[in-house]
Amino acid sequence: MKKKQLIVVKLGGSAITAKDEDKPEVNSSNLDRLAKEMTEAWNESGFSMVVVHGAGPFGHVPARKYDLDKGLKGSWQIEGISETHQSMEGLNYRVVDSLRRAGLPAVAFQPSAGGVLRNGRLVSFPIYVLKELLKLGIVPVAYGDVLFDREKGVSILSGDHLVPYLAKKLNADRVILVADVPGIFDRDPKKNKDAKIIKELGRKNVGLVKEIGSAKGVDVTGGMKGKLGELLRLAGMGIESEIVCGFEDGTLKRALLGERGLGTIIKKDS
Ligand SMILES: Nc1ncnc2c1ncn2[C@@H]1O[C@H](COP(=O)(O)OP(=O)(O)OP(=O)(O)O)[C@@H](O)[C@H]1O
Ligand SMILES: [Mg+2]
Repeated sequence: MKKKQLIVVKLGGSAITAKDEDKPEVNSSNLDRLAKEMTEAWNESGFSMVVVHGAGPFGHVPARKYDLDKGLKGSWQIEGISETHQSMEGLNYRVVDSLRRAGLPAVAFQPSAGGVLRNGRLVSFPIYVLKELLKLGIVPVAYGDVLFDREKGVSILSGDHLVPYLAKKLNADRVILVADVPGIFDRDPKKNKDAKIIKELGRKNVGLVKEIGSAKGVDVTGGMKGKLGELLRLAGMGIESEIVCGFEDGTLKRALLGERGLGTIIKKDS
């Protein structure tokens, strides 16, 4: 039997929460529409899929409040680990619920239950379990989380780090990240109305990006800059990825069905 294609999809916090307002609110209508597009593409094409979702204010705000991105400094942060994780679990429940209502066999996958970081980078993750779930036809849904860190005590696992890690370990065929912008621009498109999109990015032309930063809301994992760094590293390992807009009707579905070039492709220099 031919091996099914594996697609790793990140639903960015910017596309599924009220990130700009820093309120822990789900953008339900957009999440449900994205879930519907994922289900339609999944039914039409029959690929395997791992979903990772970002945090928006659900994770970034409590993580900043307790300085969790700086490692374990004192016992006052312990409550913050619990609060941040529970908040992310709440968002994860909403994402899984939306995917299930749309018709996907989605199952929550808690990164902090089995993942270990060292200085904020994954050094182990229960890949074997994920592979078995995928074989069953399950759609695992992981997320940015607070993890045990061998050097720092605890630190944040960003969805943008988890996505390339899984793509590499699972040998993914496609990597698609959904955000509130249609890709990477030469300047932050939310602040510069004449910002120009860059359709293909690699290490050689990364200098075209003159301004890249965090979102308007709090982002403890480096915003678009952190994302680009992670994706360039993944491209260096031979796996290209694409950032597409989560607010355009039909774009995610088309990308899942195989169209390339709908946003910004991050690839290895030829
Ligand atoms: N040069 C740039 N090109 C595109 N977007 C940029 C640029 N510089 C800054 N940004 C900002 O990056 C934001 C998207 O990154 P952000 O980290 O907020 O999204 P996300 O990863 O989907 O969210 P989360 O981290 O919560 O999952 C956009 O809203 C945009 O304003
Ligand atoms: Mg982000």
